[in-house]
Amino acid sequence: MDVVQAIKERKSIRAFKPDQVPLDLLKEIFERAMRAPSWANTQPWEFAVVTGKKLLAIQDGFVKRGAADLGNLQSEVPRPYDFPEPYISRIKKMQVKEMRGRTSELTPEEMEKRMLINFRHYGATTCIYLLIGKDYLMQEQGINVWGMYDSGSVVQNIMLLAVNCGLGTIAQAMAVVYPDIIHKELDIPPDKLIALGIAIGYPDWDNEINEDFRDREPLDTMAKFYGF
Ligand SMILES: Cc1cc2nc3c(=O)[nH]c(=O)nc-3n(C[C@H](O)[C@H](O)[C@H](O)COP(=O)(O)O)c2cc1C
Repeated sequence: MDVVQAIKERKSIRAFKPDQVPLDLLKEIFERAMRAPSWANTQPWEFAVVTGKKLLAIQDGFVKRGAADLGNLQSEVPRPYDFPEPYISRIKKMQVKEMRGRTSELTPEEMEKRMLINFRHYGATTCIYLLIGKDYLMQEQGINVWGMYDSGSVVQNIMLLAVNCGLGTIAQAMAVVYPDIIHKELDIPPDKLIALGIAIGYPDWDNEINEDFRDREPLDTMAKFYGF
């Protein structure tokens, strides 16, 4: 598959089949993805790749915590709390499946259902946790955004390479909202920040949620070209 096709086909997958992703295939994806560029080739990314009982234990921990206290999310990377224009309008335009054709907000029950499906990684058999050294990311002068930027490149590579193998992915901020559970289950030292979860697996194309296709803004609102 060429890169243009992979970019066109990639989208967030929200229903996966129970089939296991072979370890060798995952390793091949990582080998290739790590060709991503980074500041002076610092390669600030590390990965914890989890399946089976370990993943189930993390999911159970999230579901239990979430059911008890859904409002108290504790990501190690500060999440955006404010969405000024034009970002809020784009979020509203996106509209989650349950809200199609409605003007009302999600009910608390619908919210909870969505969160819990997130916590179960939409049924994916594997989750990739992106880890970054805290000393590199959280510097005295502020967050080293370049470390995040570099990690974004490698994550995008993983997602495109996954498409090339018939796999699907979804980046999940929700997969890291209780980082202490992941630190404990996987014995990840506190100096590693758990930045993001990426669910990976075989898409369930029979599930209509995977028909979702999210538009992008027109190019002329996003890019200006000078000197042509
Ligand atoms: C850093 C990041 C975190 C995300 N977190 C979540 C999440 O927790 N749950 C979810 O359902 N989607 C999550 N998404 C998926 C976005 O909603 C999705 O990428 C966006 O709506 C565009 O849709 P597309 O990926 O299908 O093109 C996340 C995406 C990114 C890049």
